[in-house]
Amino acid sequence: MEQILITSALPYANGSIHLGHLVEYIQTDILVRFLKLTGRDAVYMCADDTHGTPIEVKARQKGIRPEELIGIYHEEHQKDFSDFHINFDCFYTTNSPENRYHSELIFTRLRDQGHIAKRPVAQYYCEKDSRFLPDRYIKGACPNCSTPDQYGDVCEACGTAYTPTDLADPHCALCGTAPVMRESVHYFFTLSAYEPFLREWVATPGRLQPEIRRFIEHWFKEGLRDWDISRDGPYFGFKIPGEENKYFYVWLDAPIGYIATTQKFCEMTGRDFPSYWLDSKAKIYHVIGKDIVYFHTLFWPAMLKGAGYSLPTRVLVHGFLTINGEKMSKSRGTFINARDFLNHLDPQYLRYYYAAKLSGQPDDLDLNLDDFATRVNAELINKIANLVSRVVPFVNRNFSGRLSELPAGYDTLIGEMLDRVPAVRENYEAVDFSRAVQEIVAISDIANKFFQDRAPWDLVKTDLPAAQRVCTLALNACRTVTALIKPVLPRFAADVERILRIPELGFNDAARFDLTNHEVGPFERLVERVDPKKVQAMLGSK
Ligand code: MSP
Ligand code: ZN
Repeated sequence: MEQILITSALPYANGSIHLGHLVEYIQTDILVRFLKLTGRDAVYMCADDTHGTPIEVKARQKGIRPEELIGIYHEEHQKDFSDFHINFDCFYTTNSPENRYHSELIFTRLRDQGHIAKRPVAQYYCEKDSRFLPDRYIKGACPNCSTPDQYGDVCEACGTAYTPTDLADPHCALCGTAPVMRESVHYFFTLSAYEPFLREWVATPGRLQPEIRRFIEHWFKEGLRDWDISRDGPYFGFKIPGEENKYFYVWLDAPIGYIATTQKFCEMTGRDFPSYWLDSKAKIYHVIGKDIVYFHTLFWPAMLKGAGYSLPTRVLVHGFLTINGEKMSKSRGTFINARDFLNHLDPQYLRYYYAAKLSGQPDDLDLNLDDFATRVNAELINKIANLVSRVVPFVNRNFSGRLSELPAGYDTLIGEMLDRVPAVRENYEAVDFSRAVQEIVAISDIANKFFQDRAPWDLVKTDLPAAQRVCTLALNACRTVTALIKPVLPRFAADVERILRIPELGFNDAARFDLTNHEVGPFERLVERVDPKKVQAMLGSK
């Protein structure tokens, strides 16, 4: 069976999951569920990204150990993901013995091959805090527009990118004092040594979306620069072998977390680790946001290549979430955490809405909150769920839950529905979930129209068996629609399976129309309509 390892980027363990993150985790979860439902041996690996300065600083400010801080977020993240029906095969942590092992091994292999250089770097240092200051820990006036209080990497007022030494009046973001320049020796990964390999890897068909490939071309043109992979303490991370106060930069060990998580998973389940990361037997797909392309398409494959691990088959990049057309913003109340949503709304709404908008392209995705309520109600509620909630109670009332045969003379109509099944599959396969959802909605339309036109509530008065046959056809359509939407709405699918008293649906069950002389169970409420007041309440709760 085809083995596929799928990852989402590892969320930082110092903040809550928000609706932006969920674009990625929901999308990946739908893809993995689809692959599993079509019989592929797919596994979904993820972990918390636990290292780096912000975590060390935040823990210090809270007066707890970093391990405690990342433990708290680990619990929170797992709960949020599971409440959004995101089903990892393993959700681990980068602060693990497996990750230390692979990080050290990869580092030493790269070093032994002569691809690690050492040289001094001068950087701002805060004497009061006794630490080097990463870009985000220095503030000053923008060298371009003079707006005060800007971070050391980019001005939020005019968008100019620069280095911290360009700032006027630099000061430490932690204590406010002026930093000094200090030198320290850093380790570098000599990326340029891998240019020929990377050019070929990037150009391999199917590896990357064309838009992303063009983007990477720029980086090749500008020339690949060495990558600084070390940080001086205080830092939360893995110590570099042979060093006392130097650590691997968080972005070195973070992607290695994909490997470490897989190893943990294999140990827990008795699966074969080498087939994932050493023998190139399994396919490896990474799903990431457009902000972390450089790490995943240049540093990461080069590291794997140099250290003799398997390489990613495909890197799938998505865009950023906007809410009502703008970046999520705390002041506008549109910075919505996963938990804020769950406190007011059904997670299935978001899964459905994202699926309906995701096309597998790296464009941004807008969550327009009016459109969200309208669309979920018009499609998920009024079409997909409506079919089940009309037919099942009717069958229970009139035929004691019993189905009969299909009515004669409806082959064309059934064909119109079933002919769309391959298109749904192809669109899922192409990660074009929006087209897949469109097709599924079209099938629901046909089935709803059939049920409406045949008016079994009238027919039942004159021709009971005919009415029963109408319902039998309609419930077969319910099953088809449910099997098709199952990657997006696993909870809904499980509810329908229970109500219809049918075994767990696989994707292939969508093409069947043979649910006859069967007895369904009592109806239970499925997904509720979106109440726009609750959407407002969610925004107001911020
Ligand atoms: N820790 C790194 C990833 C390491 S992977 C080896 C990181 N973490 S993150 O928490 O900032 O983001 C995790 C993922 O969520 C990234 O792929 C990122 O692009 C995605 N998103 C974060 N905010 C997002 C939006 N507002 N919209 C869409 N995706 C977003 O980066
Ligand atoms: Zn300071």
